[in-house]
Amino acid sequence: MKEFKGKTAVITGAAHGFGAVLALEAARRGMKLLLADIDAPALDAVAAEARALGAEATAFAADLSLYENVHEMIARAVATYGTVDLLINNAGIAFRGKVWAVPPTDVDWMIDINLKAMLWGMHEAMPIMMAQGTPCHIVNVSSGAGITTARGMAAYHATKHAVVAATESTAYDLEEQGITNIGLTLFLPGYIQTDLHHCEQRRPARYRQDMPYHRTGTWRADQAQLEADITGGLPIDVVVPAVFGAIENDQFYVVTHPETLKIVAVRAEDMIEGRTPSIARLRSALT
Ligand SMILES: NC(=O)c1ccc[n+]([C@@H]2O[C@H](COP(=O)([O-])OP(=O)(O)OC[C@H]3O[C@@H](n4cnc5c(N)ncnc54)[C@H](O)[C@@H]3O)[C@@H](O)[C@H]2O)c1
Repeated sequence: MKEFKGKTAVITGAAHGFGAVLALEAARRGMKLLLADIDAPALDAVAAEARALGAEATAFAADLSLYENVHEMIARAVATYGTVDLLINNAGIAFRGKVWAVPPTDVDWMIDINLKAMLWGMHEAMPIMMAQGTPCHIVNVSSGAGITTARGMAAYHATKHAVVAATESTAYDLEEQGITNIGLTLFLPGYIQTDLHHCEQRRPARYRQDMPYHRTGTWRADQAQLEADITGGLPIDVVVPAVFGAIENDQFYVVTHPETLKIVAVRAEDMIEGRTPSIARLRSALT
């Protein structure tokens, strides 16, 4: 996709972090914006900023971990602007925790927003893009955690690997069907400074239960580690050139941190050799 002016972008998780900077770049490029997020006041502020840049922008405040809201998001974009040309499936959350400790409700929350919302977004948008027949693009925001594994994040890794698998599978389907007007990008960033460590504040009510686990020192230590990782990440400026460059050049995999690929190599070797993953081998690959 090389032309942006007058085209419609649907961006999920647009109130903070990656989604917000990508929304403002789309505005600068003259796109019409359907911006979706669960955080209504912050979303309104981003939509207002986009309008100040001269863009048409609609703020769709909704919990995208529910299918009906993803359906409504795409329907609203078509009803308002007539097309869906760019879909950035970005809304997501992160928490650390071992698989034997993390409560099932938290696993549901993670899978519903990080994985299902992305699958639903593609399901809703792709038939529209196919019918349009014009150059379109979908960016699925996975993570370096989608092509590597590390300790202490089983649920997060599981959702991000699933996003990679689903996007790769879809690339085969487009190829097999000879559908050439929809480009796909998998965004695979390492730690970048955003608001991700505050996602607990945006937990939908239906996943909010009194869980003793959330009062443990383990949970607090895991949250503190996530905050240190996010605040110690790369500045957010890397995101716009990486993602819009990929859309323009029809680039599939976009990795921001070179160390990610070193871990990919260790993991591939482990698979080929049938070896159990090892922290020591990961560390030696990174030194
Ligand atoms: N920041 C990083 O280091 C990093 C690294 C790899 C991948 N990612 C991924 O990037 C994506 C964007 O995250 P970010 O780092 O910009 O974090 P962020 O918290 O700054 O932004 C995420 C946005 O998603 C929204 N959101 C969360 N739950 C929602 C729901 N149920 N419905 C609608 N919107 C919801 C939030 O309100 C927020 O605006 C996520 O998928 C995340 O997993 C981030």
